Amino acid sequence: MSDNNKKTVGICGLGYVGYPVAMLFADAGFNVIGFDILEDRVKRLNEGENPIKGQEPGLDELIEKVFEKGNFRATFDMSEYSLADYIIIAVQTPVAEENRKPTYNNLKAALTSVGKNMKKGVTVIVESTIAPCTMKNVVKPILEKESGMVAGKDFYLANCPERLMPGHLLENIRYYNRVVGGWTPESAKIVKELYKNVVQGELQETDCITAEIVKAGENTYRDVQIAFANEMALLCEAYGSNVWKVREFINNCKKVTDTRPEALRQMHFPGAGVGGHCIPKDSWLLIHEVRDIVNPKLIPTARYINDFMPLHMFELFEDALKENGKKMKDVNVLVLGYAYDANSDDDRNTPTKPLMEKLKENGIKFEVHDSYIKEYKEDLKKMLKGKDAIILMTGHDEYKGLDYNDMLKQMNEKPIIIDGRNIFNKEEARENGFVYKGVGNV
Ligand SMILES: NC(=O)c1ccc[n+]([C@@H]2O[C@H](COP(=O)([O-])OP(=O)(O)OC[C@H]3O[C@@H](n4cnc5c(N)ncnc54)[C@H](O)[C@@H]3O)[C@@H](O)[C@H]2O)c1
Repeated sequence: MSDNNKKTVGICGLGYVGYPVAMLFADAGFNVIGFDILEDRVKRLNEGENPIKGQEPGLDELIEKVFEKGNFRATFDMSEYSLADYIIIAVQTPVAEENRKPTYNNLKAALTSVGKNMKKGVTVIVESTIAPCTMKNVVKPILEKESGMVAGKDFYLANCPERLMPGHLLENIRYYNRVVGGWTPESAKIVKELYKNVVQGELQETDCITAEIVKAGENTYRDVQIAFANEMALLCEAYGSNVWKVREFINNCKKVTDTRPEALRQMHFPGAGVGGHCIPKDSWLLIHEVRDIVNPKLIPTARYINDFMPLHMFELFEDALKENGKKMKDVNVLVLGYAYDANSDDDRNTPTKPLMEKLKENGIKFEVHDSYIKEYKEDLKKMLKGKDAIILMTGHDEYKGLDYNDMLKQMNEKPIIIDGRNIFNKEEARENGFVYKGVGNV
């Protein structure tokens, strides 16, 4: 490890994944060059600005430390890939809206720049989440074509996917176990040695296809589990039960004599919808290559259930209106939360967007509040004034502190709460005169 300062790590893509990874390698003593196509982002990063605006424990302090050391800089000059001993690719990998197939425009552009400039003996690592077979069908061919070199002979190649969540970026990179899928066993070994500098979790060596399936598979697992929880919520609503209580009892299924620490059943949280860059698209990545052969049913169905939840929030709102006798055209609504996750500024694929479209379609007057998003950052108390309903989409801590009496003072009579994240207490809300409807608890 003492030689780290002689080695250069190039990080391609300085977003939620690439930027914290860059900071950690710089802190471990490597010379780190970050590459991005956004000139403004490059400029701001060189000034030491933290690009991630949500609550991100430890990141500000780490940035400060790295800038004191002076071994990180960002650039959009792709020819500098030639300086790197290791190149980590962490660009976005969305799917197209019309057919849910990976688009890979960013990944292909990144690979082209890397391939054109990389030096012999370099190790190229893909951290982006990719569909199984992408290392074989996209990554390796582009790098070999652009460089004129051969993977496993002239350069090393691996897929080492991330397991991180906004709000826990550094913690997750440092302490989670990781799979290292090498194009060759030697590639996996080299990458494992490199990551030991920043990852304290176990680094498990395997091949590329296994690593690709593991990553897309574990996010799909989450998506399917969340869809199950959401369907349970819909069932509980119809049965007149409370899904949150049901979940608590299910997750308490244990034998008192059992020494295993984990619960035997682990039902996920239901809610107002699933967002972020990853979960809504990784299921499509997982099935992409073999979709026509397997014709999978569970995974696409789970996707549709989760996509339905913001529309279900609207259904709950319609039911609440029936209860308090107000008309859609007469009400003013405040939507709470635009980021997809609590206390984060990440609004990619946010479920709030389809809800807003539904409100617009129905000609309903509404405003959106979110302290983490510039466009929607306004005084919450002021925004509550004159509203007939709140529709809570994101579980930001700020909303947990809302006081019923304060809300009653600001809002119109017979106010409505539609709770997508179980932030309010149904009984208390009703005792205080609200019409309350929560996902899985109406
Ligand atoms: N965000 C997460 O929580 C998370 C977790 C695990 C895995 N992932 C995966 O990691 C990858 C990156 O996700 P992210 O959230 O960091 O995305 P992001 O959009 O935050 O960051 C990607 C960055 O790459 C840059 N970029 C795009 N094309 C480029 C190019 N040709 N050269 C250099 N830079 C380029 C973009 O400008 C952007 O700054 C995705 O595949 C994602 O699925 C993300």
